Amino acid sequence: MKQPTSFYLLTDTHFVSKQTWVEGKPFTMRERGDQIALKLSPEILDSFIEMILADDTIDTVLFTGDNVNSGDMASHADFRARLEKLTAAGKKVYVICATHDYCSPNGEDECFQHDAVRYTETGVEPTPFMYRRDLFDYYADYGPKQAISVHKESGSYVVQLGEGVRLAMIDDNGNGRSHCGLFEDGVAWLTAQIRDAKAAGDYILLATHHPVIAPWEVFRHMVDYELYGGYRELSKLMCEEGVRVVFTGHTHVQNIRKYTDEEGRWFVDVATIAAVNAAGKMRRVTVDPEKGTCSIESIPLDSILGVDTGDKSVFDYLYGINFAGRIEQAFPLVKTDFDRFLDETDGILPAEKLRKYKALVKPLLGFVAKRKLSFAAKFGKVWKTLTDEEKKEAKETKLLDVVFEICRHIYPGNAPFTPDTVEYKALHGAAARLDRFVEKHQIEKVQKLIPPGSSLAEMAEDFLYNNRTGDDDTIVVDLK
Ligand SMILES: [Fe+2]
Ligand SMILES: [Fe+2]
Repeated sequence: MKQPTSFYLLTDTHFVSKQTWVEGKPFTMRERGDQIALKLSPEILDSFIEMILADDTIDTVLFTGDNVNSGDMASHADFRARLEKLTAAGKKVYVICATHDYCSPNGEDECFQHDAVRYTETGVEPTPFMYRRDLFDYYADYGPKQAISVHKESGSYVVQLGEGVRLAMIDDNGNGRSHCGLFEDGVAWLTAQIRDAKAAGDYILLATHHPVIAPWEVFRHMVDYELYGGYRELSKLMCEEGVRVVFTGHTHVQNIRKYTDEEGRWFVDVATIAAVNAAGKMRRVTVDPEKGTCSIESIPLDSILGVDTGDKSVFDYLYGINFAGRIEQAFPLVKTDFDRFLDETDGILPAEKLRKYKALVKPLLGFVAKRKLSFAAKFGKVWKTLTDEEKKEAKETKLLDVVFEICRHIYPGNAPFTPDTVEYKALHGAAARLDRFVEKHQIEKVQKLIPPGSSLAEMAEDFLYNNRTGDDDTIVVDLK
């Protein structure tokens, strides 16, 4: 009897060392404009690690890239100290890296991060950083040294996770823009590894940083380069070889999507939210080689070590740090204290311009704030199709609250407005009307955003409810 094997997986920890910033406008504004918590990234990672250490039934932990936020050496040193803490406690730690983990000063590797900086009270100053070529050796103790096979050129490797289960950690050779994926030689290595595992009677799981399936169709359409470079090729390989699961990160969107090819062969991409997102979670995965199942769950933080969130949940506390949550939380100030609203959203909204056109902007935002869901339903010409109860609900629900609720679910997944809800009917109807308008007037700028064969209404569905596998947090995958 082969015993089950379990592991934890964290991705996009975007660790920022306390040595790389001081309190002040430069770093505060840098964080506000982002969608993840940067200042508290050490506390968040430590909180997850504490949970992992408290669980003596699971001895393996995976990190799948963007481990640090901007490739600086201080963050790498602090991050690696956390890995050492895990291994000192008897955990096996497997790491791959991604584009945030290195810099390239002269644009070599086409990396978008040219150099790393330290944030002072008034600006930034240069700080030592990691080169891509040095990452492999720096993290060799966390994967490559335990591996049964290593592909040095890409930094990828395969480990024996447990009885009857292997894991291929694919460092996707990312250069940040034009190529994130294995080159020809790497693909040949991976194919051989998959066949090797099968020949030994083992299941094999894959993990890489960039998604193989986009969280939304519009994402693939607009930023194809943000996907795993050879995603079509890898999809084909997984289908042909019967590899059922790939774990990914990068988009920071918690989502589980299934790909089925023309012959009905399939796999799932289990993409995990950034650990430092307000709704950050880690995955807990158990592979049972006897049953041939891979069970995946998701674990959030209910507190952050050393941080008093007051009467707020961890989500509400962290959500208010970055742009979407900050705008939502500051919005009531539009009516009561417009200048404070601009202060609260400085670094996100163009405060100067908005202040200049205050006489126009303030009433406009006030108008938007007053709209009810019924406005969207009437605009979408679905008002008459609603029941009396739905009409009542639409008249009582603020449109902006629905929009904010959708924004809250962009990263955590499991969007709430299923096709039976009045929110769905109203917004889907409104999007469909926009489709007709765009079509009639041939508005090219919008048409360009719509994938071939799709529509605004169909794209809206991605953000209204879970039209993926039904649950972005949990799934049991049949590996057989
Ligand atoms: Fe990331
Ligand atoms: Fe990334």
